[in-house]
Amino acid sequence: MTDLSDPDHVREQYADEGRLETRRSVWQPTDDGRDPSNEAFKAIDRAMTGNSDVLEVGCGTGVMAERINALPGVTLVALDYSERFVELTAARGIDARQGDICYLPFEDDSFDVVYAGWMLYHVRDLDRGLNEVRRVLRPGGTFVAVTNGDDSLADLLREAGGKVRAKNFSSENGEFTLSRKFSDVRSQDLETRAVFPDHASAQAYLDTHDEGLVLPPFDGPRTYSGHVTVFEAR
Ligand SMILES: C[S@@+](CC[C@H](N)C(=O)[O-])C[C@H]1O[C@@H](n2cnc3c(N)ncnc32)[C@H](O)[C@@H]1O
Repeated sequence: MTDLSDPDHVREQYADEGRLETRRSVWQPTDDGRDPSNEAFKAIDRAMTGNSDVLEVGCGTGVMAERINALPGVTLVALDYSERFVELTAARGIDARQGDICYLPFEDDSFDVVYAGWMLYHVRDLDRGLNEVRRVLRPGGTFVAVTNGDDSLADLLREAGGKVRAKNFSSENGEFTLSRKFSDVRSQDLETRAVFPDHASAQAYLDTHDEGLVLPPFDGPRTYSGHVTVFEAR
């Protein structure tokens, strides 16, 4: 089973945008129409008070950064480990920089809001990464983080003979982990769905993990359940 926080794995996974875009493309909102990225965006917006300095860590291809950057009064810096993702994010007109959450290149008390979407489970020294977030946040600032539950896509993995991964930052342990650094932690759980039009698309999703998993053939579309949590910590 792949260790999600293995630095070599992280480098390979995000050397280009192919795997990330394949995974992003299948997710649908909850039955009551809530989308995790929208909920995170609303949390970021709520946390801003007038002119605000915002940092996004692990910005990927810059989709959320572009939305945040359009908010009135925002000054945004987006940061990612992957040089390719920094290039793609900068191409959207964002101040994008290459860096590691464990060594943030910013002064203490630099930001009103820090956002980390689906990235903390890749951070091997999570304690150090969260200390860095805490350090660069101003007093009263807000940290918004999104992650998946360990049971997300568990049926898909099991059908392909894979094992369910226990992440170092998940829906299950996120509140406990954040409450060691922040006094007020709130969470919103969302039951999402991954919809695959056919077997090939489900197999393509599995292939992005480079684990050699093979999904037994099936006809027609198939839906697997996911679980996402949006945390707001201050
Ligand atoms: C699953 S992707 C999520 C990307 C984006 N937030 C999104 O929602 O599409 C994880 C991202 O975190 C970045 N990343 C992983 N470890 C990192 C670290 N230690 N510091 C900064 N970025 C990191 C990866 O390069 C990748 O872009």
